[in-house]
Amino acid sequence: MCGIIGYIGRKEKTLPVLIEGLKALEYRGYDSAGIAYQKNNKINIIKAVGRISNLEEKITPQDSTLGIGHTRWATHGKPSIKNSHPHQAGDITLVHNGIIENYVELKQTLSEKGYQFHTETDTEVAAVFIDYCYQSAKNMISALKKAQKRLKGSYAFGIINHKEPNVIYAMKKESPLVLGKTENELFLASDPLAISSHTKEICYLKEGSIAKLENNKVTLFEEKEITPTWTTLNIEDSKADKNGYEHYMLKEIYEQPKVIENTIKPYLTENGTQNIPDLHKYHKIQIVACGSAYHTGLVGKYIIEKFANIPVEVEIASEYRYKKVFYDKKTLVIVVSQSGETADTLASLRKANQDGIDTLAIVNVITSTIAREAKYILPVKAGTEIAVATTKAYLAQLSMFSLIAFELALKNNLLSEKETEDILYSYQTLPKQIKNLLKNINVKEISEKVYKHNDIFFLGRGIDYSICTEASLKLKEISYIHSEAYAAGELKHGTISLIEENTPVFSLITDKDIYEKTISNIKEVKARGANSIAIITKELDEESDYYDEKIIVPNTHTLLQPILNIIPFQLLSYEIAKLRGCDIDKPKNLAKSVTVE
Ligand code: F6R
Repeated sequence: MCGIIGYIGRKEKTLPVLIEGLKALEYRGYDSAGIAYQKNNKINIIKAVGRISNLEEKITPQDSTLGIGHTRWATHGKPSIKNSHPHQAGDITLVHNGIIENYVELKQTLSEKGYQFHTETDTEVAAVFIDYCYQSAKNMISALKKAQKRLKGSYAFGIINHKEPNVIYAMKKESPLVLGKTENELFLASDPLAISSHTKEICYLKEGSIAKLENNKVTLFEEKEITPTWTTLNIEDSKADKNGYEHYMLKEIYEQPKVIENTIKPYLTENGTQNIPDLHKYHKIQIVACGSAYHTGLVGKYIIEKFANIPVEVEIASEYRYKKVFYDKKTLVIVVSQSGETADTLASLRKANQDGIDTLAIVNVITSTIAREAKYILPVKAGTEIAVATTKAYLAQLSMFSLIAFELALKNNLLSEKETEDILYSYQTLPKQIKNLLKNINVKEISEKVYKHNDIFFLGRGIDYSICTEASLKLKEISYIHSEAYAAGELKHGTISLIEENTPVFSLITDKDIYEKTISNIKEVKARGANSIAIITKELDEESDYYDEKIIVPNTHTLLQPILNIIPFQLLSYEIAKLRGCDIDKPKNLAKSVTVE
């Protein structure tokens, strides 16, 4: 993952721009950070393990007109000062986002030529190799072109050559990289948001591009030298602010009524849907995504098949990109991504695009690569999501799948007038229902009873199971409790042996057609000592002995029910993680945007 930034401009601004940019990029990784800046013809490097704030503490104000910076999500080599970027070799100092896949082979070749290595990283090998190319070419553009031919994998580089003190070079393949400019300044960054408070003039670098930034001028080389295309970034500056909440995650959970309202509004009319591309010509849909976004796909499959009668396959992007895929011109590939930069999802999108298959992106960041490369885009309006664990973007993605299912069901004449009215009414009341649920729900007591356990299970059938997959991920990623989601009927085929006296088992019971079956499965775990906690819709609530505790969720139309169902689990995960003293907004080992495969 990692985030990179670069700046050439005003001497008092360089270090603040780098630090501010790195803070905006911290969602891409927070294992360590570092900057290199130019002063009196010397390159100075400062690094710190952990958060950007640790780096900031080490920095004193300095005049410098040029610098590069990096925030790291460790891939090769543990988080340490030594492995932190910027890396130096000979005349080269660089920062890197990506993975150099053939670094072992390159390292071997370079070692035989007498080069020495001091870190465990793939990036140091890239630095040494670029220096090696430069020492023979004596020209940076030729050296970088030569390096491009040998480096395999993904990269966005910001590079300084000590012999060219006023220049930053950039080079990109597969990892995102943008340039920015004002009258007297030049920028590079992994994400335009890192520089958007300084400039809205942006140039998205194409695959294989090399850029030279100097003297208020950008020279761009693709096959040959080309004129950069500048576009104006159409986003508002959003200052990150917890707004009185203890954590961003909690703030984002409480923003959900508004997020859902903003997301669904542009697509609904008095009688149905609007602004959704014509999708009913497709005979099959493939949904491809990672993590929570993949989990929204599981829900999407269920509701599109149920309401629109179209077969849907859901695929994990890291698998999909390398497997034999069965699609044709009647297939629509839907990719789902909050960040719009997830490497595997992007690669899957490109695979379908290259094969001439129509693609649609459900995406939150509309400036992202996925948003730019998909044939159709359905943006969700979650706003900036800071907490690493997604909540509001997940919910917005669920609502987008409900709109797709609704639109397809309408187009395929599968809904009666009465059911259409019911659905439209449910959409109208949904934001208020979410608000009331958030206001009235209390998960503290249950959280206190379960937070010390090491294993927690989530059971559900059908669409409830799909929600359980997300509930389980949410819990484990922020509380570090091992948990598993199971299709309720499947547990007895092996996993039930893990149920012990008092093991917490959360069950989601909201599907009227099969709830009795789920209850039988809950009784099976209760008979083996489980502490059974039921999350149940109002309609299905009854006095019974199959649960020890329960949380009631209001009813809405089945198409929208999943949107309400996940909310108790978001809050439970949050409370449990808080009781365990975890770093809720930045869980260990994670990053918000996963730009390596
Ligand atoms: C979990 C979470 C991740 C992301 C996944 C895909 O809370 O946020 O599982 O859903 O990394 O990220 P995007 O949606 O940016 O493609």
